[in-house]
Amino acid sequence: MEMSYLSGAERISLALRSLYAAFGYEKYKMSRFEPYDFYAENRSFVAGDNILTFTDTNGRLMAMKPDVTMSIVKNYRGGEVRAVYNESVYRDEGDLGEFREIMQIGVERIGTIDFAAEEEVLRLAKLSLAELGEGYILDIGSASLVLGLMEETDAPESAKKALLAAVNGKNAGLCGALCEKYALPDSVGAAWKTLCEVYGGAGDVIPALASIALNDKMESAAAELSEIAGSLGGVNVDFSIVTDLRYYNGVVFKGYLRGSHAPVLSGGRYDNLVHSLGKSAGAIGFAVYLDSLGVESGESGAIRVALPKGRLGERVYELFESSGFGCPEMREKSRRLIFENESAGVSFFWAKPSDVPIYVERGAADIGVAGSDILEEYRPDVYELLDLGLGKCRMCVAAPESFKDDTSRPLRVATKFPNIARRYYSDLSREIDIIHLTGSIELAPIVGLSDVIVDIVETGGTLRENGLKPFETITDISARLIANRASYKFRTSAVLKLKKAVETALSEG
Ligand code: PRP
Repeated sequence: MEMSYLSGAERISLALRSLYAAFGYEKYKMSRFEPYDFYAENRSFVAGDNILTFTDTNGRLMAMKPDVTMSIVKNYRGGEVRAVYNESVYRDEGDLGEFREIMQIGVERIGTIDFAAEEEVLRLAKLSLAELGEGYILDIGSASLVLGLMEETDAPESAKKALLAAVNGKNAGLCGALCEKYALPDSVGAAWKTLCEVYGGAGDVIPALASIALNDKMESAAAELSEIAGSLGGVNVDFSIVTDLRYYNGVVFKGYLRGSHAPVLSGGRYDNLVHSLGKSAGAIGFAVYLDSLGVESGESGAIRVALPKGRLGERVYELFESSGFGCPEMREKSRRLIFENESAGVSFFWAKPSDVPIYVERGAADIGVAGSDILEEYRPDVYELLDLGLGKCRMCVAAPESFKDDTSRPLRVATKFPNIARRYYSDLSREIDIIHLTGSIELAPIVGLSDVIVDIVETGGTLRENGLKPFETITDISARLIANRASYKFRTSAVLKLKKAVETALSEG
């Protein structure tokens, strides 16, 4: 058949549908919208903060579908279901809170999910990736192993959530700090740290997982991963892909293509969702994101490092230089932005400090250095590999010396960091009026624009000279080494080599 008039996504969609049909998966067609009530009742399972709604001609509030799996499960009437769908979902996923149409093709198996059923779905995921491109990685992890470890973790729910976030960001530093703060036993701390750090083939990772198992649940989850990985061959084990423990309860997996910065396939075992919707069955499935195909963020032989322009960036560059990753041309005075040292396998570029995480998240840089203030404000989807201990300062609430909070009205807060300020005051249940400024924040309370500021204090000089004083410290700040998720996976040894060299240079002062 002549197929040249089809777009890349259409060709792939056709190829995948025929692959799934060959395994007995039947087409499942659904309406684009559903009554909003269904999603409101099951809010915790819906991705994104908002649902796109409209009122139909009968006055009913309807939702543009934010999720396909939930609708398939809702209509499950027993028996063994093998379904394939090709649908759009509507989610507010962008930074600007705009709704996007996301084209997905996916499969769901609902019914009795034994090892063979799980293996079949994972095999289909692997075959799908092979269909999408030559260089691909399929990562598998286990939600039940994390749930098992949570049972052994005697800490508040918020701390367990923070530990999971540390695993999600491969942030061993945060993980260690949390274990210390909540005085967790060494065995529990070591298990969390292992989940933060392990990545690679099953042969290397499974023995490490078996050695940290603290109960039957963790032990059998490690055994299950081992069995699946052995049967599929060529998959990596990773726990940074385990995110949603309300939705998933067993094996989870994500697929990456060489050159694309975000996963193109995502899925897992989701009996939790099925049970929450009042059905008794097991379920496993995945979706391929058709829109993310063909968007290449580029790749080069050298590891690409984004440095923050300015004083901090220069100190960070010196650190890289003393780690053996220097680039002599960077010392010359010029307005060039990109530099490469071919023999050291590294290239650098200067970016505005608050833009560094964007370059890294989107894969235009493999590695970057950003202040923890910026990471906390924007929460980019990157790995945070190391606290460099440079650029230390703190995020404070400051105000004129005479300031007294008038709790009878909202507090007017001027800041460059609206998200940090909002979260801080929301934890205190204090109503605020955010005034988002972009610089010279100290001016705001002096000229009566705000009551307080939330800003960075380094020496305290700026505050003093303007008759202001810090009232509260929200958080300590320092520079962090961050990495793009896909770069970490495709270039693990180069990324880890650079991290290790920087760590050594830091410890040698
Ligand atoms: C930061 C911050 C404070 C100042 C604090 O401003 O916003 O103004 O540094 O440093 P200090 O405690 O050592 O006085 P920055 O220099 O980034 O410029 P900005 O005013 O444009 O935000």
